[in-house]
Amino acid sequence: MTIRAVVRGVGHYLPEKVVPNTWFAEQGIETSDEWIQGRTGIERRHFAAEGETTSDMAANAANAALKQAGLGASDIDALIVATSTADLTFPSAATMVQAKIGMESGFAFDVQAVCAGFVFALANANALIVSGQAKRVMVIGAETFSRIMDWEDRTTCVLFGDGAGALIIEASKGDGTNNDRGILATDLHSDGRHREILYVDGGVSTHSTGHLRMQGKEVFRHAVEKLAATAHASLDSIGLSGDDVDWMVPHQANLRIINSTAKKMGLDMDRVVITVQDHGNTSAASIPLALSTGVERGQIKRGDLLVTEAIGGGLAWGSVIIRW
Ligand code: ACO
Repeated sequence: MTIRAVVRGVGHYLPEKVVPNTWFAEQGIETSDEWIQGRTGIERRHFAAEGETTSDMAANAANAALKQAGLGASDIDALIVATSTADLTFPSAATMVQAKIGMESGFAFDVQAVCAGFVFALANANALIVSGQAKRVMVIGAETFSRIMDWEDRTTCVLFGDGAGALIIEASKGDGTNNDRGILATDLHSDGRHREILYVDGGVSTHSTGHLRMQGKEVFRHAVEKLAATAHASLDSIGLSGDDVDWMVPHQANLRIINSTAKKMGLDMDRVVITVQDHGNTSAASIPLALSTGVERGQIKRGDLLVTEAIGGGLAWGSVIIRW
């Protein structure tokens, strides 16, 4: 008998304000819909309303996942929020979400691995479940990247959006084979030597909030190389290959990166859940948003084999294999 962390529910929240690519030129930023779509695949993104915070969006996504699962907040014993844009320096966004959804027991904490945050949080939630420390874990990715954009920098400000997605996983008995539902493999990496290619130039122990800085071409190069490698590594670890995958649910940064990773995995694009056109890059929120959207669209079905993969600042990158 093997304990598996099996998906029980999924949900998401997107702020009301939809920002099309044409909005940037209207603000006097020298760019165009054609450039943004051609280089990234992004057509629009959502921005949080004034006063709307990461924990507000995360709580909405959590409530949507609870509703879909037919559970209440008291049924969750651990809550993890993956975010780089928490409301406050402390307490964690996770404890704020705990209060907002009415979860009065268990424990909650944040995970910070930037765009790879959801994959890191999910791998850690899986470890809590298989080690017996938690029975049911809410894993949320939530971000308000619109608050750390430099609106003078057209190479970054057009790429990101706000939103939140939540996944509930719970302990369930499996037989230890790849036919089990649940998380079957994880693969995590980081390499702090690449700080300069993607970072925010401020923070509590330095100064101000700061803005996102990125060497786009370098990030692109690392993403294309490392995403397929981590996906292959986690599949290899359980004796599977790209042929066994029903859906790739990648971090939604750039359609060209997604295309290239799918090609390296030997996957046709009709086996990839793509939301980047509607959400932009929502960092840690992008995978749970894509999972929830994929279920809503009727793409992801119970029993499907999914590979999720992400890379972000750090650099930090990784993948998780889930049988839905
Ligand atoms: N509108 C119009 N022109 C622009 C814009 C813009 N928004 N941004 C840059 N340009 C111009 C540049 O100034 C440059 O002009 P020049 O040739 O006259 O100097 C030209 O477009 C090409 O610029 P590059 O930076 O070389 O463009 P590139 O083809 O590399 O595309 C991009 C830029 C889209 C950022 C790409 O490098 C990329 O996608 N990198 C991956 C980064 C990423 O996805 N980051 C997300 C965070 S990390 C993650 O989530 C994985």
